[in-house]
Amino acid sequence: MQCLPSVALSDELIVCTDDGSRGRKALVTEPLKEICMRTPAPQWAVAIGPPIMMKFCAETTRPFGIRTIVSLNTIMVDGSGMCGGCRVSVGTKTKFVCVDGSEFDGHLVDFDNMITRMAVYEKQERRAHERYHQLEKKRQPELGRE
Ligand code: FES
Repeated sequence: MQCLPSVALSDELIVCTDDGSRGRKALVTEPLKEICMRTPAPQWAVAIGPPIMMKFCAETTRPFGIRTIVSLNTIMVDGSGMCGGCRVSVGTKTKFVCVDGSEFDGHLVDFDNMITRMAVYEKQERRAHERYHQLEKKRQPELGRE
């Protein structure tokens, strides 16, 4: 597990949205790269969000040598380190997000493997989601009205 220094982490907030409906219309990696190019460069970057976003944040900071912590949100089943559902590759090691994380060095995480593993139950998740909404409509018929 990575530990952040116990100091104030940031004094600047840059809001970005894909469609520009709030803040700047940009991917988060755009202002991140601009910040990495500042002098002095930041000492740390922390990325929390969708795996693909964390992957590209880590790829943005990598050439600048800025330590980048990511907070992984893998599938979890038992949360005890026994089932392996949350297994990730970090550098040359196998880690379990539930007991070894959830924060890791973003430059060492194998995001492609993690994203592939997270999609394993996509079909079942979609069916469960649809089933949930069907049951909700039966339970609360007014939800089904347009
Ligand atoms: S959730 Fe089962 S090992 Fe982490």
